[in-house]
Amino acid sequence: MTRILSIVSGKGGVGKTTLVSNLSTSLVKNGKKVIVIDGNVTGSNLHIHLGIEATDNMVTLNDVLDGKAFITQAIYRHPIGFSIIPALLSKINYDNNNFDLKKHIFELLGEYDIILIDAAAGLGEEVQAAINSSDVSIIITNPDPASLVNALHTKKLLELKEKDVVGVVLNKVRGEKDEHNKKYVEEYVGLPVICEIPYHHKIRRSVYKKMPVVESDPHLKASRKMKTLAYTIVDEEVPKENLLEQIKVIILNI
Ligand SMILES: Nc1ncnc2c1ncn2[C@@H]1O[C@H](COP(=O)(O)OP(=O)(O)O)[C@@H](O)[C@H]1O
Ligand SMILES: [Mg+2]
Repeated sequence: MTRILSIVSGKGGVGKTTLVSNLSTSLVKNGKKVIVIDGNVTGSNLHIHLGIEATDNMVTLNDVLDGKAFITQAIYRHPIGFSIIPALLSKINYDNNNFDLKKHIFELLGEYDIILIDAAAGLGEEVQAAINSSDVSIIITNPDPASLVNALHTKKLLELKEKDVVGVVLNKVRGEKDEHNKKYVEEYVGLPVICEIPYHHKIRRSVYKKMPVVESDPHLKASRKMKTLAYTIVDEEVPKENLLEQIKVIILNI
């Protein structure tokens, strides 16, 4: 059965697109059939993170939402092995506020083990369309007050819609004393933190390299955290790292 999961945050820049790129890569490596959808139609950049050359004659989610194409026509294959439905800023139709993804997404059911939706920032129609289309969501936040307020309001929106939440991913953790810790985040948002991802410059760099960090730097602590999360979201047991992996991590101190 296909599971539809949206990555939401309220705030922009917290790491939604990064998480979607890395989860999709990890899930493919775990043998899953995966498709990612750029649900951030008015701020699309999933294809940039994934190094997909975008051209104006590509069929995209914008065309689907505009009623100009079927969703199956907007599917592209990424070399890593997952499929992607991109959106393009150059294709924004400013007269069309129809973000109703749900009415198209059902055509993908049964084809994939998991559909990941990279949501927009905010709590507006575009985000609601992503949430409405999903079975379940993950809220991602950073350990700072502004991100947490947005995360809390995203949780309230999900509650209002009676949608399940897997939990909170706490990203860009630097371990500094003025940032909120896991316990505080759990109490503030009222949800469990299921994954803490450290801040690492290689993650920022991965956008320039157009390659998810789990692929370019699989031993990095942040990569290992996201690979573990990929098992959790499909309810699979995380395999133990073999001895060689453990030694590499100790020697490289990552
Ligand atoms: N754990 C991290 N450490 C360092 N930089 C990160 C981390 N997660 C995300 N980033 C960087 O933060 C920026 C915003 O991330 P992005 O995934 O585009 O956020 P969003 O989709 O929520 O707007 C990008 O430059 C990305 O590389
Ligand atoms: Mg994004």
